[in-house]
Formats: sequence, C-alpha cells, structure tokens
Amino acid sequence: MRKIGVVTSGGDAPGMNAAIRAIVRTAIPKGFEVLGFMRGFTGLVNDEAKLLGLRAVGGIVHLGGTILRTERCPEFMTEEGIKKASKALERRSVNTLIVIGGDGSFRGALNLHKASGVQVVGIPATIDNDVAGTETTIGFDTAVNTAVEAIDKIRDTAMSHGRVFVVEVMGRKRGFLALEVGLTAGAEVILVPEVERDINSVCETIIRSRKKEKGYSIVVVAEGFGDSSKISREIAQRTGFEVRLTILGHIQRGGPPTARSRLIASLFGSYAVKKILEDDKSVVVGLQNGRINFNSLEFVTTQWKPLDTELLHLAEELAV
Ligand code: F6P
Repeated sequence: MRKIGVVTSGGDAPGMNAAIRAIVRTAIPKGFEVLGFMRGFTGLVNDEAKLLGLRAVGGIVHLGGTILRTERCPEFMTEEGIKKASKALERRSVNTLIVIGGDGSFRGALNLHKASGVQVVGIPATIDNDVAGTETTIGFDTAVNTAVEAIDKIRDTAMSHGRVFVVEVMGRKRGFLALEVGLTAGAEVILVPEVERDINSVCETIIRSRKKEKGYSIVVVAEGFGDSSKISREIAQRTGFEVRLTILGHIQRGGPPTARSRLIASLFGSYAVKKILEDDKSVVVGLQNGRINFNSLEFVTTQWKPLDTELLHLAEELAV
C-alpha cells in the first residue's frame, strides 16, 4: 500500500486542519494510508507519527491551529537532522511527504527531497501570504479578517478621542497582510517593507487628513517595515496629536478559519493527493487566477513574490 506522510510546519495558520482533513479524505478512498508526523519536522526527525483514519479528521474543519501541532525545528536544518528524517520515512515506508507550511518549510522539504529522493508535495499555509507561485495561502484570509475586525473596534475609540492609532500587523518581512488589512480597514497610511516611506511624508498625510476634517487616523504598519513604537513616538512628536500603538500579534494566527481559508485548504489538500496519483514530481500546489496550479519546489523557494503596489495606490486614492 502507498503511504503518504503529512506534516504541518512553521507558524500555524487557520485552515491547516481543513487541509489535513482534505488530504485524508481524498487519499484513503484511493487506497493510500496516511501518517501524520507530529510537531512539524521535529516529529520526522524523532520518528513520532500517528495513523490518520477518516474519523480522526472529523470535526476539525472549523478549528484553527493544527491537530498535528507544529514547531520550528533547528535540527532539521542540519545534515544530521535530514538524515534522521530520511531514515524515519524509509523505516515507515512513506513514499510521499505532504508539507503544509510556508517557504521556510519548503526549503527544508527540498533538502529532504534531495537527500532521500522522497517525493515532497507542498501546500502553502501561512498568514503572511509570501509564497511564490500562488496568489493566496491557507490562513491569509482569516488573518486579514481578524485584523480588520480588530481595527474596526480600534476605530471607535480612535474617533471618540480624536487620536492617531498605529496598528502593527504580522507578515514577517513582507507586506501582503498589511496591504490588504490597511486597504479594507480604510487606513490613511499603510507602511510595507517593499515600499520606502519616510516619517515626514507619513506625518504630512496625517496632518493633511486632519485639515480635511477627519477627526482621527489609522496607520497600519507591517512588522517588517520597522520599529512601530519608534514610528508612533515620531508621529506624536512631529504632529502634536495623541498617538496610541496597538500590536495585534498572535491573535492574527488564531481563531476559526474563514470559509475562504477552508475552501483554499480543501482544494489544496485534495489536489495535492490527486497530483501524487498523477506523477512522482516534487511540487507545491497553488492558486493562480482562481485555478489550481503546480510549481516546482525549486521555483517556490527561490522566487520573490511581487506585492501588488496598485493596491497601495488604490488605498491612498480612497483615503482622501
Ligand atoms: O510566519 C507567520 C508569522 O506569524 C509571522 O507573521 C511572524 O513574523 C512570525 O510567524 C512569528 O513567529 P513566532 O510565532 O515563532 O513568534
């Protein structure tokens, strides 16, 4: 019987469970056995796995986090760690490993594929949406909605006090989350690592908007842009307005996945298994123009995904 190993790796993302469910429920009726490795690549290195049956993935489609748990595993970045993981896969006769995670996880998976020859199929899951070859990742939509909901609440108090609120969102080194959150929350200023913006121009925008009788301002800052407390202090000093900083943090990673995150997860999980039936290539599933696609692991781990700066211009246009 062909065996598929599944691992969730890196930061958890809402919808990972829906992807595990889709993998198991596509694979078992097609004659596969599915093994879930625990705690990310740590479970591979330490050979810690459990058999996933159809009922084991019942009642999880709506749950955030991951039933397989996840970790960042430094040992997997070493030759020794890769060797241990390859042995575990061999011992358990796993022919294909499905890795649900972000680009860091795919880099590790590529090393494992090169060392062991095992087929690896990647499923992009990260709230950062920074994976090349796909327009979206599992968890991104949920994180956007969580942050927008938080800013809608912040807006009430910002308006009542006439304050400037600086809201820091996650995204690691990229601004996908900040851009979509800022645009859809109606922020006056959006600061992303991909686009330079000096503090003077930020303050000018805020002062200009006050002159247009806007009583408060929302500034969305991607964590990768820079020190948000320094930005807040500088805005207060230069504009004389009252400024408060909110760092949304890990709240953006939790909670039930939105319907869209569940849909993406179900598609990715199911197509990953269908791809395994087709050939033994190591690929990453993705979505481009609304259609499922596959890219090589090499492509996904080396390409830079462009940020749609048109959206940034749109946000500026709409914040007049
Ligand atoms: O990659 C997802 C992410 O939430 C990033 O946005 C953030 O920079 C990072 O993980 C935080 O990592 P940790 O949970 O290990 O602190």
